[in-house]
Amino acid sequence: MKRSIGIDLGTTNSCVATIDSLGKPEIINNKLGEATTPSTVSLRAAPGSDGERPLVGAPAVRRATSNPAETFYGVKRLIGRRFDDTSVQALAATLPYQVVSAANRDAWVAALGVQLSPPELSSIVLRELHDIAEAHFGDSVHEAIITVPAHFDNAERRATVDAAEISGIKMRRLLNEPTAAALGYGAHRGEDQRLAVCDLGGGTFDVSIVNVENGVVEVISSQGDLFLGGDDVDRIIMHELLTELRSEHGLDLIGDSEAMQRLKSEVVSAKHTLSESRPASLELFHLGELVSGKFLDYQRRIERAELNAWVGPVLARLDAPCKEAAARCGLSPHDVNAIVLVGGMTRMPVIQHRIASIFGPPTLKVVNPDEIVSIGAATQCANLDGIIEDLVLLDVTSQALGLLSEDGQYQQVIPCNATIPTREHRILATREDNQRELYFEVYKEGSATPAANRELGRFVCRDLPDAPAGEVMLLVEFTVDVDGILHVATSELGSGEPRELRLMAIAGLNTLRSATPALGERVVSCSPHERGFASQLQAPKSYSLAKLPRPARPYRRVGLW
Ligand SMILES: Nc1ncnc2c1ncn2[C@@H]1O[C@H](COP(=O)(O)OP(=O)(O)OP(=O)(O)O)[C@@H](O)[C@H]1O
Ligand SMILES: [Mg+2]
Repeated sequence: MKRSIGIDLGTTNSCVATIDSLGKPEIINNKLGEATTPSTVSLRAAPGSDGERPLVGAPAVRRATSNPAETFYGVKRLIGRRFDDTSVQALAATLPYQVVSAANRDAWVAALGVQLSPPELSSIVLRELHDIAEAHFGDSVHEAIITVPAHFDNAERRATVDAAEISGIKMRRLLNEPTAAALGYGAHRGEDQRLAVCDLGGGTFDVSIVNVENGVVEVISSQGDLFLGGDDVDRIIMHELLTELRSEHGLDLIGDSEAMQRLKSEVVSAKHTLSESRPASLELFHLGELVSGKFLDYQRRIERAELNAWVGPVLARLDAPCKEAAARCGLSPHDVNAIVLVGGMTRMPVIQHRIASIFGPPTLKVVNPDEIVSIGAATQCANLDGIIEDLVLLDVTSQALGLLSEDGQYQQVIPCNATIPTREHRILATREDNQRELYFEVYKEGSATPAANRELGRFVCRDLPDAPAGEVMLLVEFTVDVDGILHVATSELGSGEPRELRLMAIAGLNTLRSATPALGERVVSCSPHERGFASQLQAPKSYSLAKLPRPARPYRRVGLW
């Protein structure tokens, strides 16, 4: 029997689910009998050193106290991102492990004398989930659907595909988390309605407006904030308590990573307790040495009202994506019939109230908000395998994409909320007589201002035929596939001949793996018969890792430990 799984690769916790042959969803518990596995990896030896394999999940979390610099959590906030990105810089300043700039300017981490990419670390978590599923089945897993935040851009999606590739998992598709949540919640089996799916996890907030009609689940709009989640709440509580410890006890814990880690785990459990309406008590013996030479036995009670006041800034940031998601499909937030709450953070009553106050209608609390995304991914797998038939899923792009031509003109090519897969083209012409090369840049549009646009890649088309200015015209085609990944292709207008396209610069492991040191660029086109898809922003599927040019750095596989 074909074994397929759905994987929710979360910032804080990951979860794996499957659908049995009768169409029944099942969460696959880990070795400890738990439904979710912390997305934490603790390195015990450098990769390739024949040392001990890394710890994953709860054992890795426990090791964070003694080895904070080698224990990586929240890596999803770094995946596919540049080191000099302001959000990454702000995050790096708060992390106990080192974030560094890789040769291609991506954010990587460093420990035990080596640098590791976020996809490499995520691959270790994916492999663990895959092994959990194989142990459960007693059989090999055939393929997986992996979920990503709806707001993940091309680089972040590609980096997740890289993680799956490194882990050796056969990835069938990427699926947006709120879309998966709508399926996991069973929207396709329910009555016709318009839902707002709000997913607030450890690191990201996603909101999708979903129309359900006759079993067709159609996402009509998606918005989000990639840097808004439980980690932010934890940071706020930490900040309040650290300030108080300084002013009341003269104790500064910054720099004492073990004490910080102990305080952080108490803070997280206090946050969870406060969702159950009880006051929470923190108790930490010998937390730090006071000026008197004595050690502080720290005790602190936190009331829910106090926590609610602290998280005000986080609550305020929920409004804009919700309102924008509705506005972008021409609706008011009050036009939705029900809200589906997903993600561990939605267990906090103050978060539930805030989201309810934005949309208005009754809130549907998902029983296990941290498991539902993986069930949705498994449901989509079962749908593709024909086990679940009464389901049609339509998803959308969450960002507009455009190109900047040599003359400095920016034009949008694919709008936000276009149903995927989608394809659009623009025409570029030479501006000088006998111009032999034509450049253009590809951008993702920021939701707020054009200044927030992020460059995804820089391309050059060479060896154009000699002709007067404006006579050589290129058809530049953008295709966003079902995984939400952009492919760029060019052909010459008139002859229709595909044109070799060179990628000059792009974020992600693929660039690093295949960059030629002299030029820092690579040909991404395939053979001419692959017309229309001749050149791709991603490495063509037919590339095997072994065939790629020697990488700038050794490319590790998980099994090398
Ligand atoms: N009872 C609770 N009360 C408050 N917060 C909670 C509770 N249970 C879990 N959380 C918080 O929810 C967050 C984790 O949620 P979840 O597992 O859904 O995130 P994730 O899927 O890993 O992240 P993301 O979806 O952002 O990638 C953590 O910050 C955790 O502390
Ligand atoms: Mg999640």
